[in-house]
Amino acid sequence: MVLNNITAFQFFSSVALGLLCFKIVNKFLPWVYVNIIGPYFLGPKLNIRSMGGWAVITGSTDGIGRAYAKALAKRGFSLVLISRSLSKLEDVAKEIENEYKVETKIIDVDFQDSIGIYDRIKAGIEGLDIGVLINNVGVSYPYPEYFQTFYQQNPKVLLDMVSVNIHSVTHMCALVLPVMLSRKKGLIINVSSSITSVPAGLLTLYSGTKAFVDKFSEDLQTEYRDSGITVQCIKPGFVATKMSKVKASMWCPTPDTYVASALNMLGYTTTTPGYFPHHFLEIPCDFMTYLTCKPFVSSMFLKHYLKLRKSALKRLSQKK
Ligand SMILES: NC(=O)c1ccc[n+]([C@@H]2O[C@H](COP(=O)([O-])OP(=O)(O)OC[C@H]3O[C@@H](n4cnc5c(N)ncnc54)[C@H](OP(=O)(O)O)[C@@H]3O)[C@@H](O)[C@H]2O)c1
Repeated sequence: MVLNNITAFQFFSSVALGLLCFKIVNKFLPWVYVNIIGPYFLGPKLNIRSMGGWAVITGSTDGIGRAYAKALAKRGFSLVLISRSLSKLEDVAKEIENEYKVETKIIDVDFQDSIGIYDRIKAGIEGLDIGVLINNVGVSYPYPEYFQTFYQQNPKVLLDMVSVNIHSVTHMCALVLPVMLSRKKGLIINVSSSITSVPAGLLTLYSGTKAFVDKFSEDLQTEYRDSGITVQCIKPGFVATKMSKVKASMWCPTPDTYVASALNMLGYTTTTPGYFPHHFLEIPCDFMTYLTCKPFVSSMFLKHYLKLRKSALKRLSQKK
């Protein structure tokens, strides 16, 4: 078939090329802007300092939370540090006050405890001009439960994980939002995990709690975008902390490197891995899923986790 000297093949290949170009312009270029050009070349879109005088950080005595505390103190925020161990809180508060000359308040609570802890936190933050909330506190499985299948897990471990990883996020947002809404500005950063983007059988509850944080953040942002509130959900891959027990490298940054990068991404997108190399870790999984199918990729991941479990249990039995 020939249409005015153009063959059907030429016609359809032009349409296909046009669609491909449209897809690139429509999907890829905004992705490059939001994840690379914006954060790395233009800097954060959001003036975090204008949000208010105080920042509240949960899980602030170690790892990512402590790095956020230092980064915000460096920008002049006074801090409410909330964590479990009083002595560690006192040490971190003293270190930050000395180094950055900002005011700090500490609240020692265990997020595994019952709802009463939120009355203590409410009393502790009363009257403060809170501009930033970092919902960072989170727990994974204690070793060796890490390697047990879901039904074998201690029910107390399951309950505590939901209390720390989910209830802390919802209740802390409910406590600070009225202050932020009254001033029509505020920033809430919720810490999820890249585990929500890959199959995670054997880490089922942990990944489920983090998936909650993703969806909750997206919808909270929709609800309060027009009220001047910015919500950012960060989804780190491995960061070199006590929780991950992984050494620092390009793929596993120190908490300070990770937080500096995530703060640069503020204002571009609600959900982000927060650190450029962590974007790449999702690509092989997406690619395999695209080429094959999700159940196949999930079972490959599960086989890998089962191998890890086998060698960990072997190590454990050799230690005994
Ligand atoms: N590290 C990673 O590779 C990674 C990857 C993805 C997502 N994340 C997420 O990032 C967040 C921070 O992780 P991290 O690696 O920085 O953890 P981390 O180094 O283990 O630090 C956890 C912090 O939370 C506090 N905390 C733990 N349980 C608590 C409880 N029940 N009540 C009150 N405070 C408690 C700890 O206080 P104490 O010092 O008193 O124990 C510490 O300050 C978590 O939500 C985690 O799920 C981490």
